[in-house]
Amino acid sequence: MFFQRKLGAMAALSLLARAAPAPHTRRDVSTAVLDKMDLFAQYSAAAYCSSNIDSESTTLTCSVGNCPLVEAADATVLYEFNETTDWGDATGYIAVDPTNEAIVLAFRGSSDLANWIANIDADLVDASDLCTGCEVHSGWWKTWETVASTITSYVESAVSSYPDYEIVFTGHSLGAALAAISATVLRDAGYTIDLYDFGQPRIGNLALADYITSQDSGSNYRITHTDDIVPKLPPELLGYHHFSPEYWITSGNDVTVADDDITEVVGVDSTAGNDGTLLDSVSAHRWYFIYISECS
Ligand SMILES: *[C@@H]1O[C@H](CO)[C@@H](O)[C@H](O)[C@H]1NC(C)=O
Repeated sequence: MFFQRKLGAMAALSLLARAAPAPHTRRDVSTAVLDKMDLFAQYSAAAYCSSNIDSESTTLTCSVGNCPLVEAADATVLYEFNETTDWGDATGYIAVDPTNEAIVLAFRGSSDLANWIANIDADLVDASDLCTGCEVHSGWWKTWETVASTITSYVESAVSSYPDYEIVFTGHSLGAALAAISATVLRDAGYTIDLYDFGQPRIGNLALADYITSQDSGSNYRITHTDDIVPKLPPELLGYHHFSPEYWITSGNDVTVADDDITEVVGVDSTAGNDGTLLDSVSAHRWYFIYISECS
């Protein structure tokens, strides 16, 4: 009897979850998870440094000193890409990290952050090839399409050279949006990909958010910081939604992030993290473990 009532309540909850924000659970992260976020924030930072994109060197370095963990890992660039579109650049690299045994695809964010934020809203376009009822930001989808076949073949050959390495996609800001879209597509193509996104805007509709939340070939680390304005955009009023979980950093700029400064917030469109903050901050968008866009 009790069991039946409990099932009924769960069914009612899942119905509610379609209509209203899902219930939230919150927990602190482990040091192991925190260390990986710190590392991949630095990989995202390295994508802003042009020396890592323009074939100057195959060793990843950051001239402003914000990627010491990447430099210490002896990471080298396998491939670079740089396509310019009306909606921003699809720029970045694929690197191999022998220390952490990872293949890392990193997308650079916009070099003109203020202008990019001001023009972030766009129509949603059909992405039902990806998942039923799914729609995605039209601009970032076009940007992804300019590099989709190149990146797919780069990933394929990196994986054939390093078949035992884990695959990580990462990026900050626009780079986070492109990393999320490409991870979603390439998980569908059969790869297991962990996604580390820093200050990611919303990328698509509720069906897409639900779909990415449910993808089980790799983990989603969608990292936000205090009242960063970018994860609040484009607004839900335009039909945009966020996948789960969110990892919300609550300490301020210039503060080293400790494991009790970051909370895992579970639930599509969670309001118990960044989205529940009252103010909108552009400066909070620049600090993710480090000044992440400092090289731009
Ligand atoms: C990427 O391409 C654009 C346009 O061709 C060029 O201006 C820019 O310098 C390139 N960026 C890098 C990092 O190579």
